[in-house]
Amino acid sequence: MATTFQAPPGTRDFYPDQMALRRYVEDTWRRVSLRHGFLEVDGPTFEFLDLYKVKSGDEIVSQLFHFESREDKSGNTEAFALRPEFTPTLARMVAAKAHALPRPIKWFSLPRCYRAERQQKGRLKEFFQWNVDMLGGDTPEARAQFDAEVAILCLDCLREFGLSPDEVKLRWNDRHNVETWFDLADIPEAKWPAAYSLLDRIRKISPDDRKRIYTEQGFEGGAQRLFEQIADNSNPLAPEFWKYDQLDDAKKQKFQTVVVKAMTFHTYLRFAGLERYGQAEPDPSIVRGLAYYTGFVWEISDTRGEHRAIAGGGRYDKLIEMFGGPTLPATGFGMGDVVLANLLQERGLLPKDLGRGTAPDVFIVNALPRPEPALKLIGELRAAKLVVATSYKTTKNIGKLLQDAAASSARHALILAPAEWYKPGGPLVKLKNLATREERELPLPEAMTALKARA
Ligand code: HAM
Repeated sequence: MATTFQAPPGTRDFYPDQMALRRYVEDTWRRVSLRHGFLEVDGPTFEFLDLYKVKSGDEIVSQLFHFESREDKSGNTEAFALRPEFTPTLARMVAAKAHALPRPIKWFSLPRCYRAERQQKGRLKEFFQWNVDMLGGDTPEARAQFDAEVAILCLDCLREFGLSPDEVKLRWNDRHNVETWFDLADIPEAKWPAAYSLLDRIRKISPDDRKRIYTEQGFEGGAQRLFEQIADNSNPLAPEFWKYDQLDDAKKQKFQTVVVKAMTFHTYLRFAGLERYGQAEPDPSIVRGLAYYTGFVWEISDTRGEHRAIAGGGRYDKLIEMFGGPTLPATGFGMGDVVLANLLQERGLLPKDLGRGTAPDVFIVNALPRPEPALKLIGELRAAKLVVATSYKTTKNIGKLLQDAAASSARHALILAPAEWYKPGGPLVKLKNLATREERELPLPEAMTALKARA
């Protein structure tokens, strides 16, 4: 009895329709990246396991597909992991050649990534992820400009896919600012990791569960007020959030620094043409799970909130150094193909002709008793770079074969029929324009010249 197999859960088979969709997404990502001056890079699909342990964060490390190499002659093995994301590879590549690379470094990549996540809507175990990263920037202004440049590029690409500015929203935050809030709320530094992780989930946790967590983790007065107000959508960049008038001078100063920094970023987004592409707003609950982010962090989602984040990114100024390179500030984002394709499909934004292949320039209708003449003509036309199709059916019924020609969306049909082909002075053929239905009978060499001229 035959054994049947299915693809592992969380992976996809790419039949022609799905493959065409994937190529459409990748081609769009690539085109927009190149248009904004980014160069394509790639790395291995697996890396040493330790690369991800340095700074990707516990969540990603718990989702790694990892394996041991075979023993070498001395019985030693090495531990590897399939890449769950591209940023550690990029940091490793930049660190290795940082001094030789022209600045700023503007790179994009389209890696296939693997995460042993529980499969759910928008999340798979294997997916494609567009990464765009920009490294360099000697001044705070240059860095804010880079942050805005990559975020606007991401929004520009969503526009290119047909999503209108009112359909997508960029929500951003700054980890430095968050630390100032923790400080203003008197949360001791030792509790910041727990506070970050709580903030990341705060709007998804019920009021009762929040109370339980406060008690379990020892978050009191100021900390509880901070979390409750953020859960309630209050804006910590507004003075009333902190009862500004009651703050001491040192705290007033800290609050003002945060506001100025936030405004600077927003201003840069506006300079870069934000209104053309989408909306943006600060969101104090965006902190992102990856441990390497050092400042500005953001996510883009659909404004109706029906999907998970389409893209996410931020600034990671310490990672290159951590991988043995020079001090090199960096900012970037990743966008997966799964949520994006779901969204485009649902909104009817995918091109209608995906999966149909390239429309032929010419369709050979062969009603001659033998295949050789048609085979020769196909070879000659393909050598002249025309897209040529034919029917592989044995029927000599020209009407039926012309139906196949029309179904193929070919521009022309070249009809080889015995009545003309064997005429004295022949061979003659018919050349039919399938759009206008205009048909001409002419000597074969003339028909071939006319077709090749249209290539
Ligand atoms: P991330 O938020 O982990 O960031 O992933 C970015 C995007 O990848 C997500 O918004 C989502 O579209 C997609 N994605 C992530 N996991 C899955 C999954 N299991 N299935 C389908 N899609 C998924 C990063 O990976 C950062 N390395 C991005 C970055 C680049 N930051 C700076 N440069």
